[in-house]
Amino acid sequence: MKVVAINASPHMDHGNTAMILGPFLEGMRDAGTDVEVLYTRRLNIKPCTGEFHCWVKEPGRCYIDDDMNDVYPKMREAEIWVLAAPVYVDGLPAPLKMLIDRLLPLVEPFIEIRDEHCRHPRREDAKAGKIALVSVCGFWELDNFDPMVTHVKAMCKNIGREFAGALLRPHGGALKVMRKLGVPMGDVLEAAREAGRQLVTDGVMSPETLSTISRELVPRDVYVRAVNMNFHRARLTSKLKI
Ligand SMILES: Cc1cc2nc3c(=O)[nH]c(=O)nc-3n(C[C@H](O)[C@H](O)[C@H](O)COP(=O)(O)O)c2cc1C
Repeated sequence: MKVVAINASPHMDHGNTAMILGPFLEGMRDAGTDVEVLYTRRLNIKPCTGEFHCWVKEPGRCYIDDDMNDVYPKMREAEIWVLAAPVYVDGLPAPLKMLIDRLLPLVEPFIEIRDEHCRHPRREDAKAGKIALVSVCGFWELDNFDPMVTHVKAMCKNIGREFAGALLRPHGGALKVMRKLGVPMGDVLEAAREAGRQLVTDGVMSPETLSTISRELVPRDVYVRAVNMNFHRARLTSKLKI
């Protein structure tokens, strides 16, 4: 089984997103999948120009010559897509949105009614499959992910893939500090690994496992004080620890 993961954090392997994505993908690899990680930061992906070239002049082919040329075959072949991104202004970071917009060549322009709703049929050269979301945010509450989760669920319906669930880590800024201070949070990382294993072997991730990943790491008032202190210190020293 092939998995393609898109890491849309500009901090790539050193970000908070990677702290959850890493063990999740390890769990998938342990379960026998072939996992490839792409980093939007390393990709040159231009925005869709909205001409429907890929739907009319050359069905299934985007005319823009950039790194999407390498991304398309990987996404067509992968049974599981993992979209991994920090919350940026309540949604997906722009480079990931640009990549997603460019997926139009994977579907047909025609409209069909599925589940009493207008949808596009998937093209035959793109495999059916699932999408799992991995996201981290800076605010404390879990509901900061609501717009992103709603968006990714809608996208799944639109392009005919199954939403496999989301690994959501609020107050993600606490992860690295806790690791550095040796405060126990191994259960969160272990749950991310377990979620990867479950998705591959059972086809679903258990609600208990996902809720461990999102569990409270530190009380809200403590977190807010620590973040604010960090930024006050950063302004004095011009050095931000993230
Ligand atoms: C441009 C920008 C916008 C952000 N918007 C939000 C937001 O709307 N809500 C939130 O909770 N965190 C927001 N954050 C915080 C990030 O989600 C958070 O720092 C995250 O842990 C970064 O992950 P990374 O280390 O993988 O890049 C924002 C950060 C940036 C840089």
